[in-house]
Amino acid sequence: MYILAIETSCDDTSLALFENDSLLSMETKSQIHAHTLTKGVVPEVAARMHEGMILEVWEQVMQNAGCTMEQVSYIAVTVKPGLIPSLLTGMVFAHTLASIYDIPVIECNHIEGHIFSIFLERKEEEVVFPSICLTASWWHHELYYMKTKWEYRKIGETQDDASWECFDKVAKMLGEGYPGGPIIATLATTYREKYGDTSSHLFPRVYLSKESLDFSFSWLKTAVKIEIEKRKSITGMLKEKDKEEIAFELQEAICDVIVHKLFYAMELYQASTMMVVGGVSANERLREKIFQENSKKGKNYTILFPKKKIYSTDNAAMIGILAYHTIKDKRQSIWKFC
Ligand code: KG4
Ligand code: ZN
Repeated sequence: MYILAIETSCDDTSLALFENDSLLSMETKSQIHAHTLTKGVVPEVAARMHEGMILEVWEQVMQNAGCTMEQVSYIAVTVKPGLIPSLLTGMVFAHTLASIYDIPVIECNHIEGHIFSIFLERKEEEVVFPSICLTASWWHHELYYMKTKWEYRKIGETQDDASWECFDKVAKMLGEGYPGGPIIATLATTYREKYGDTSSHLFPRVYLSKESLDFSFSWLKTAVKIEIEKRKSITGMLKEKDKEEIAFELQEAICDVIVHKLFYAMELYQASTMMVVGGVSANERLREKIFQENSKKGKNYTILFPKKKIYSTDNAAMIGILAYHTIKDKRQSIWKFC
Protein backbone atom coordinates (compact mmCIF):
# COMPACT_ATOMS: atom_id res chain seq x y z
CA MET A 1 0.00 0.00 0.00
CA TYR A 2 1.39 3.39 -1.07
CA ILE A 3 0.37 6.63 0.67
CA LEU A 4 1.09 10.14 -0.63
CA ALA A 5 1.15 12.63 2.27
CA ILE A 6 0.78 16.41 1.98
CA GLU A 7 1.51 18.98 4.69
CA THR A 8 1.11 22.72 4.01
CA SER A 9 -0.41 24.00 7.25
CA CYS A 10 2.10 26.79 7.82
CA ASP A 11 5.31 27.68 5.96
CA ASP A 12 6.71 24.33 4.81
CA THR A 13 5.60 22.73 1.56
CA SER A 14 6.21 19.11 2.44
CA LEU A 15 5.21 15.92 0.59
CA ALA A 16 6.13 12.34 1.38
CA LEU A 17 5.56 8.91 -0.08
CA PHE A 18 5.14 5.83 2.10
CA GLU A 19 5.00 2.13 1.40
CA ASN A 20 3.00 1.05 4.44
CA ASP A 21 4.90 2.52 7.40
CA SER A 22 8.18 2.92 5.48
CA LEU A 23 9.07 6.38 4.31
CA LEU A 24 10.28 6.08 0.69
CA SER A 25 10.87 9.75 0.02
CA MET A 26 10.16 13.19 1.42
CA GLU A 27 10.71 16.67 0.04
CA THR A 28 10.25 19.77 2.16
CA LYS A 29 10.61 23.26 0.73
CA SER A 30 10.98 25.78 3.50
CA GLN A 31 9.86 29.38 3.13
CA ILE A 32 12.04 30.64 5.97
CA HIS A 33 14.00 33.05 3.73
CA ALA A 34 10.78 34.84 2.70
CA HIS A 35 9.41 35.10 6.23
CA THR A 36 12.73 36.27 7.68
CA LEU A 37 12.07 39.62 5.97
CA THR A 38 8.83 40.06 7.94
CA LYS A 39 10.22 38.23 11.04
CA GLY A 40 7.14 36.00 10.98
CA VAL A 41 4.73 34.31 8.59
CA VAL A 42 2.25 36.40 6.57
CA PRO A 43 -0.51 33.84 5.75
CA GLU A 44 -1.28 35.15 2.26
CA VAL A 45 2.42 35.12 1.32
CA ALA A 46 2.80 31.58 2.67
CA ALA A 47 -0.18 30.31 0.65
CA ARG A 48 1.10 31.85 -2.58
CA MET A 49 4.50 30.27 -2.00
CA HIS A 50 2.90 26.85 -1.41
CA GLU A 51 1.04 27.27 -4.70
CA GLY A 52 4.26 28.08 -6.50
CA MET A 53 6.17 25.11 -5.11
CA ILE A 54 3.76 22.23 -4.58
CA LEU A 55 3.81 20.79 -8.13
CA GLU A 56 7.60 20.67 -8.21
CA VAL A 57 7.79 19.09 -4.73
CA TRP A 58 5.21 16.45 -5.71
CA GLU A 59 7.10 15.57 -8.93
CA GLN A 60 10.34 15.28 -6.97
CA VAL A 61 8.84 13.01 -4.31
CA MET A 62 7.30 10.67 -6.89
CA GLN A 63 10.51 10.57 -8.91
CA ASN A 64 12.73 9.88 -5.87
CA ALA A 65 10.46 7.04 -4.77
CA GLY A 66 10.30 5.65 -8.33
CA CYS A 67 6.53 5.50 -8.01
CA THR A 68 3.55 6.53 -10.19
CA MET A 69 0.19 7.90 -9.07
CA GLU A 70 -1.48 4.72 -10.38
CA GLN A 71 0.28 2.83 -7.57
CA VAL A 72 -0.90 5.20 -4.83
CA SER A 73 -3.75 3.84 -2.69
CA TYR A 74 -4.40 6.85 -0.43
CA ILE A 75 -3.69 10.57 -0.30
CA ALA A 76 -3.28 12.01 3.20
CA VAL A 77 -3.55 15.75 3.76
CA THR A 78 -3.48 18.10 6.75
CA VAL A 79 -6.84 19.85 7.09
CA LYS A 80 -6.48 21.54 10.52
CA PRO A 81 -5.27 23.35 12.53
CA GLY A 82 -3.10 25.83 10.68
CA LEU A 83 -3.18 28.94 8.52
CA ILE A 84 -6.36 28.66 6.45
CA PRO A 85 -4.89 29.90 3.13
CA SER A 86 -1.94 27.51 3.52
CA LEU A 87 -4.15 24.55 4.45
CA LEU A 88 -6.42 25.25 1.48
CA THR A 89 -3.52 25.00 -0.97
CA GLY A 90 -2.66 21.50 0.23
CA MET A 91 -6.28 20.42 0.38
CA VAL A 92 -7.11 21.64 -3.13
CA PHE A 93 -4.01 19.89 -4.44
CA ALA A 94 -4.90 16.64 -2.61
CA HIS A 95 -8.50 16.63 -3.81
CA THR A 96 -7.50 17.49 -7.38
CA LEU A 97 -5.13 14.50 -7.51
CA ALA A 98 -7.80 12.39 -5.81
CA SER A 99 -10.39 13.19 -8.46
CA ILE A 100 -7.98 12.69 -11.37
CA TYR A 101 -6.66 9.33 -10.15
CA ASP A 102 -9.75 8.22 -8.21
CA ILE A 103 -7.94 7.82 -4.91
CA PRO A 104 -9.53 8.25 -1.45
CA VAL A 105 -8.37 11.15 0.72
CA ILE A 106 -7.51 10.82 4.40
CA GLU A 107 -8.01 14.10 6.22
CA CYS A 108 -5.46 14.51 8.99
CA ASN A 109 -5.17 16.67 12.06
CA HIS A 110 -1.83 18.46 12.29
CA ILE A 111 -1.43 18.03 16.07
CA GLU A 112 -2.28 14.34 15.80
CA GLY A 113 0.38 14.19 13.08
CA HIS A 114 2.96 15.66 15.48
CA ILE A 115 1.97 13.03 18.08
CA PHE A 116 2.33 10.23 15.52
CA SER A 117 5.77 11.52 14.50
CA ILE A 118 6.93 9.37 17.43
CA PHE A 119 6.13 6.25 15.33
CA LEU A 120 8.42 7.27 12.47
CA GLU A 121 11.33 4.83 12.16
CA ARG A 122 10.18 3.02 15.33
CA LYS A 123 8.53 -0.32 15.77
CA GLU A 124 5.02 0.08 17.13
CA GLU A 125 5.86 -2.09 20.17
CA GLU A 126 8.55 0.41 21.21
CA VAL A 127 5.86 2.99 22.00
CA VAL A 128 4.38 1.74 25.27
CA PHE A 129 1.27 3.28 26.83
CA PRO A 130 0.04 4.93 29.02
CA SER A 131 2.07 7.95 28.09
CA ILE A 132 2.19 11.70 28.59
CA CYS A 133 2.74 13.68 25.42
CA LEU A 134 3.73 17.34 25.11
CA THR A 135 2.91 18.92 21.77
CA ALA A 136 4.93 22.13 21.52
CA SER A 137 4.63 23.67 18.12
CA TRP A 138 3.06 26.58 16.29
CA TRP A 139 -0.24 27.69 17.87
CA HIS A 140 -0.22 24.92 20.41
CA HIS A 141 1.47 23.98 23.61
CA GLU A 142 -0.51 21.14 25.12
CA LEU A 143 -0.17 18.13 27.39
CA TYR A 144 -2.00 14.91 26.59
CA TYR A 145 -2.63 11.79 28.60
CA MET A 146 -2.57 8.87 26.16
CA LYS A 147 -4.13 5.62 27.37
CA THR A 148 -3.54 4.09 23.97
CA LYS A 149 -2.46 5.59 20.67
CA TRP A 150 -6.09 6.45 19.82
CA GLU A 151 -7.45 7.18 23.29
CA TYR A 152 -6.06 10.44 24.50
CA ARG A 153 -7.26 13.57 26.20
CA LYS A 154 -5.88 17.01 26.83
CA ILE A 155 -4.81 17.48 30.46
CA GLY A 156 -3.08 20.84 30.17
CA GLU A 157 -2.54 23.71 27.77
CA THR A 158 -1.21 27.21 27.65
CA GLN A 159 -3.47 29.89 29.06
CA ASP A 160 -1.93 32.55 26.85
CA ASP A 161 1.21 32.32 24.70
CA ALA A 162 2.78 29.04 23.60
CA SER A 163 6.46 28.22 24.12
CA TRP A 164 7.25 28.74 20.42
CA GLU A 165 5.90 32.30 20.72
CA CYS A 166 8.37 33.01 23.49
CA PHE A 167 11.23 31.74 21.34
CA ASP A 168 10.11 33.48 18.14
CA LYS A 169 8.97 36.77 19.63
CA VAL A 170 11.97 37.21 21.93
CA ALA A 171 14.26 36.57 18.93
CA LYS A 172 12.40 39.38 17.18
CA MET A 173 12.81 41.66 20.25
CA LEU A 174 16.55 40.91 20.16
CA GLY A 175 16.60 42.04 16.52
CA GLU A 176 17.26 38.51 15.30
CA GLY A 177 15.56 36.55 12.50
CA TYR A 178 12.93 33.86 12.12
CA PRO A 179 12.25 31.17 13.32
CA GLY A 180 13.40 32.21 16.78
CA GLY A 181 13.82 28.77 18.40
CA PRO A 182 17.07 27.71 16.71
CA ILE A 183 18.44 31.28 16.94
CA ILE A 184 17.78 31.53 20.69
CA ALA A 185 19.25 28.03 21.13
CA THR A 186 22.47 29.02 19.34
CA LEU A 187 22.86 32.25 21.35
CA ALA A 188 22.18 30.32 24.57
CA THR A 189 24.81 27.69 23.70
CA THR A 190 27.40 30.41 23.14
CA TYR A 191 26.57 31.84 26.56
CA ARG A 192 26.80 28.41 28.24
CA GLU A 193 30.15 27.73 26.65
CA LYS A 194 31.51 31.00 28.05
CA TYR A 195 29.82 31.19 31.45
CA GLY A 196 28.56 27.72 32.34
CA ASP A 197 25.17 26.16 32.98
CA THR A 198 23.97 27.92 36.10
CA SER A 199 20.97 30.14 35.62
CA SER A 200 20.72 33.38 37.63
CA HIS A 201 16.92 33.08 37.39
CA LEU A 202 16.84 36.42 35.64
CA PHE A 203 13.34 35.51 34.40
CA PRO A 204 10.40 34.01 36.30
CA ARG A 205 9.38 30.35 36.11
CA VAL A 206 5.62 30.60 35.78
CA TYR A 207 4.04 27.44 37.19
CA LEU A 208 0.57 28.99 37.77
CA SER A 209 0.38 26.62 40.72
CA LYS A 210 2.70 23.67 41.38
CA GLU A 211 -0.27 21.32 40.85
CA SER A 212 -1.44 22.92 37.60
CA LEU A 213 -0.77 21.18 34.29
CA ASP A 214 -1.51 24.37 32.38
CA PHE A 215 1.14 26.76 31.14
CA SER A 216 1.58 30.51 30.85
CA PHE A 217 4.37 32.05 28.82
CA SER A 218 3.16 35.64 28.33
CA TRP A 219 4.44 36.77 31.75
CA LEU A 220 7.86 35.45 30.81
CA LYS A 221 7.73 37.21 27.45
CA THR A 222 6.81 40.48 29.18
CA ALA A 223 9.63 40.04 31.72
CA VAL A 224 12.09 39.65 28.84
CA LYS A 225 10.70 42.75 27.12
CA ILE A 226 11.14 44.81 30.32
CA GLU A 227 14.71 43.51 30.75
CA ILE A 228 15.60 44.38 27.15
CA GLU A 229 14.18 47.89 27.54
CA LYS A 230 16.05 48.34 30.83
CA ARG A 231 19.38 47.34 29.28
CA LYS A 232 18.79 49.45 26.18
CA SER A 233 17.98 52.51 28.31
CA ILE A 234 21.39 52.20 29.98
CA THR A 235 23.63 51.44 26.99
CA GLY A 236 21.45 52.63 24.09
CA MET A 237 21.66 49.21 22.45
CA LEU A 238 22.01 45.54 23.31
CA LYS A 239 25.53 44.17 23.34
CA GLU A 240 26.18 40.66 22.03
CA LYS A 241 26.69 39.45 25.62
CA ASP A 242 23.25 40.83 26.58
CA LYS A 243 21.64 38.91 23.73
CA GLU A 244 23.41 35.69 24.68
CA GLU A 245 22.51 36.03 28.36
CA ILE A 246 18.87 36.85 27.65
CA ALA A 247 18.62 33.91 25.23
CA PHE A 248 20.21 31.55 27.78
CA GLU A 249 18.01 32.73 30.67
CA LEU A 250 14.89 32.57 28.50
CA GLN A 251 15.64 29.02 27.37
CA GLU A 252 16.35 27.94 30.98
CA ALA A 253 13.05 29.43 32.19
CA ILE A 254 11.02 27.75 29.42
CA CYS A 255 12.74 24.38 29.87
CA ASP A 256 12.44 24.37 33.68
CA VAL A 257 8.68 24.86 33.55
CA ILE A 258 8.18 22.25 30.82
CA VAL A 259 10.34 19.69 32.65
CA HIS A 260 8.49 20.25 35.94
CA LYS A 261 5.05 19.85 34.35
CA LEU A 262 6.04 16.79 32.34
CA PHE A 263 7.36 14.90 35.37
CA TYR A 264 4.44 16.01 37.50
CA ALA A 265 1.99 14.71 34.87
CA MET A 266 3.91 11.43 34.60
CA GLU A 267 3.53 10.86 38.35
CA LEU A 268 -0.07 12.00 38.49
CA TYR A 269 -1.15 9.71 35.66
CA GLN A 270 1.26 6.88 36.48
CA ALA A 271 2.52 6.86 32.92
CA SER A 272 5.55 4.91 31.81
CA THR A 273 6.43 6.76 28.61
CA MET A 274 7.04 10.45 28.02
CA MET A 275 6.72 11.82 24.49
CA VAL A 276 7.77 15.31 23.39
CA VAL A 277 6.86 16.42 19.86
CA GLY A 278 6.56 19.55 17.69
CA GLY A 279 9.08 22.22 16.70
CA VAL A 280 10.16 23.02 20.26
CA SER A 281 11.02 19.33 20.85
CA ALA A 282 14.04 19.95 18.58
CA ASN A 283 15.54 22.03 21.40
CA GLU A 284 18.71 20.31 22.64
CA ARG A 285 18.68 21.94 26.07
CA LEU A 286 15.10 20.75 26.66
CA ARG A 287 16.13 17.21 25.74
CA GLU A 288 19.17 17.39 28.00
CA LYS A 289 17.16 18.70 30.97
CA ILE A 290 14.49 16.01 30.55
CA PHE A 291 17.09 13.23 30.56
CA GLN A 292 18.89 14.84 33.53
CA GLU A 293 15.64 15.00 35.53
CA ASN A 294 14.84 11.39 34.66
CA SER A 295 18.10 10.19 36.17
CA LYS A 296 18.01 12.70 39.05
CA LYS A 297 14.58 11.46 40.05
CA GLY A 298 15.63 7.82 39.47
CA LYS A 299 12.47 7.34 37.41
CA ASN A 300 13.72 5.41 34.45
CA TYR A 301 10.79 6.53 32.31
CA THR A 302 11.00 5.78 28.62
CA ILE A 303 11.53 9.14 26.97
CA LEU A 304 10.73 9.49 23.30
CA PHE A 305 11.43 12.33 20.91
CA PRO A 306 10.91 12.11 17.14
CA LYS A 307 13.82 10.03 15.80
CA LYS A 308 15.15 12.85 13.62
CA LYS A 309 15.05 16.61 14.13
CA ILE A 310 13.27 16.99 10.77
CA TYR A 311 10.39 14.99 12.28
CA SER A 312 10.07 17.51 15.15
CA THR A 313 9.35 20.49 12.93
CA ASP A 314 6.59 20.40 10.31
CA ASN A 315 6.93 17.59 7.80
CA ALA A 316 4.74 15.38 5.62
CA ALA A 317 6.18 12.16 7.07
CA MET A 318 4.19 12.65 10.29
CA ILE A 319 1.00 13.00 8.23
CA GLY A 320 1.87 9.87 6.23
CA ILE A 321 2.50 7.76 9.32
CA LEU A 322 -0.72 9.03 10.92
CA ALA A 323 -2.59 8.02 7.75
CA TYR A 324 -0.93 4.58 7.78
CA HIS A 325 -2.12 3.93 11.36
CA THR A 326 -5.57 5.34 10.50
CA ILE A 327 -5.94 2.85 7.65
CA LYS A 328 -4.38 -0.09 9.51
CA ASP A 329 -6.60 0.39 12.55
CA LYS A 330 -9.66 1.15 10.40
CA ARG A 331 -10.25 4.57 11.89
CA GLN A 332 -12.91 6.92 10.59
CA SER A 333 -11.18 9.68 8.68
CA ILE A 334 -11.21 8.35 5.13
CA TRP A 335 -13.04 10.64 2.73
CA LYS A 336 -13.81 9.49 -0.77
CA PHE A 337 -13.82 12.42 -3.20
CA CYS A 338 -15.79 10.97 -6.12
O1 KG4 B 1 6.06 22.36 14.34
P1 KG4 B 1 6.68 23.55 13.74
O2 KG4 B 1 7.75 23.31 12.73
O3 KG4 B 1 5.63 24.50 13.05
C1 KG4 B 1 4.28 24.47 13.01
O4 KG4 B 1 3.59 23.73 13.76
O5 KG4 B 1 3.80 25.27 12.16
O6 KG4 B 1 7.22 24.49 14.90
C2 KG4 B 1 7.82 25.69 14.62
C3 KG4 B 1 8.30 26.31 15.89
C4 KG4 B 1 8.92 27.64 15.64
O7 KG4 B 1 8.30 28.61 16.45
C5 KG4 B 1 10.38 27.45 16.03
O8 KG4 B 1 10.96 28.59 16.64
C6 KG4 B 1 10.30 26.30 16.99
O9 KG4 B 1 9.28 25.48 16.51
N1 KG4 B 1 11.59 25.59 17.02
C7 KG4 B 1 12.39 25.56 18.10
C8 KG4 B 1 13.58 24.88 17.70
N2 KG4 B 1 13.45 24.52 16.39
C9 KG4 B 1 12.22 24.97 16.00
N3 KG4 B 1 12.22 26.05 19.34
C10 KG4 B 1 13.22 25.86 20.22
N4 KG4 B 1 14.38 25.25 19.93
C11 KG4 B 1 14.60 24.74 18.70
N5 KG4 B 1 15.76 24.13 18.41
ZN1 ZN C 1 3.46 21.85 13.56
